[in-house]
Amino acid sequence: MKRISLAVIGLRFGARHVQNIVSKGFDAELAAISDINPDYAALGKEHGVPFYTDYKEMLRTTKIDAVIIAVPPHVHAEVGMACMEYGVHVLMEKPIASTLEDADKLIESAARCGVHLEIGHMYRFDKGIEMTKLKLENGEIGQMIGFHIFSTYLKGPGYFKQEWRTKRNTGGGPLLTNGIHDIDRLRYVCGDVETVSALMSNKERGFEVEDTVSISVKCKNGVVGTIFLSDCSHRALPYTDFYFGTKSSVMINSSSYYIDDPLHEIEQVSWDYGVNRRIERHEMKREDNHMKELRHFCQVIQGQASPRTTGEDGKKTLQALLAIQEAMLTERVVTI
Ligand SMILES: NC(=O)c1ccc[n+]([C@@H]2O[C@H](COP(=O)([O-])OP(=O)(O)OC[C@H]3O[C@@H](n4cnc5c(N)ncnc54)[C@H](O)[C@@H]3O)[C@@H](O)[C@H]2O)c1
Repeated sequence: MKRISLAVIGLRFGARHVQNIVSKGFDAELAAISDINPDYAALGKEHGVPFYTDYKEMLRTTKIDAVIIAVPPHVHAEVGMACMEYGVHVLMEKPIASTLEDADKLIESAARCGVHLEIGHMYRFDKGIEMTKLKLENGEIGQMIGFHIFSTYLKGPGYFKQEWRTKRNTGGGPLLTNGIHDIDRLRYVCGDVETVSALMSNKERGFEVEDTVSISVKCKNGVVGTIFLSDCSHRALPYTDFYFGTKSSVMINSSSYYIDDPLHEIEQVSWDYGVNRRIERHEMKREDNHMKELRHFCQVIQGQASPRTTGEDGKKTLQALLAIQEAMLTERVVTI
């Protein structure tokens, strides 16, 4: 099997991808890295690979099979399309782009250039999500009814030193930065989003972008649910997602999985008081979802797997997110 030659563009968060590649956990090697900030030259020296401040020069002068792009969202399309023109496969960090027009450009460009475009929605590789999908597919959860997702973080002032994080037109705000993961998970588990409403607050920091938002969602298949998202709140509870089904419900956090399954058929009782039930708990070894995603991306390039998050998927997740953003800004119900 041919060893995949990888480059990384954008090295702040992208440094984590660099670390995963050089850890040699899969069939790939680091060929080059790029960032407009020359300080990252030291990272190139550390790993013995060429460093470029101009990623186009990297594309012209280095033979690479695939690239991981971790630049700010408003430049995803420009950088992604340039890589595709060189026949380079792209793992684009989430969100696919900051506008649907840019998402379309990336999708069209990947098809025209005959390269893979995978979007970095790495929670699709989370063990709890993988188990939930499996249990849905084999009927253990029954019909999906609804969900509730807690998504709370506490970010300090250092995080907002990059100005793009405080402004909406450059892709800032926890909805686009973090909520996109929650929206992608709910789409992956529950189905495509149809109608949304949302209320936001920015009272803590006073930036243009929200710091807290409460969201209601209805999916095309009738599943309904809510998301509470904040990047100025301590984590209140050690779990993130609940998914409620007709046969059982699951609670997931990044290291455990919990399924509550009444042992009787609902027809046998007028109301299930939860007395006779099976509770299954799995403590799972914490895995690096980014590493799993990268390993999978290499398998896609080698023809051994299909993309788990295609460009179209990334666009649908962005579309749901933009509908929530519109609902949040207008305080109106929005249907996609
Ligand atoms: N999947 C995840 O868990 C996760 C986590 C964090 C960030 N991200 C995503 O990664 C991307 C980067 O996020 P970040 O937090 O590192 O942003 P950042 O603004 O902190 O860093 C972006 C880096 O890209 C560089 N850059 C900007 N324009 C460039 C260009 N044209 N060519 C080369 N380099 C360029 C900057 O100098 C900077 O080093 C975003 O899309 C973000 O949503 C994903």
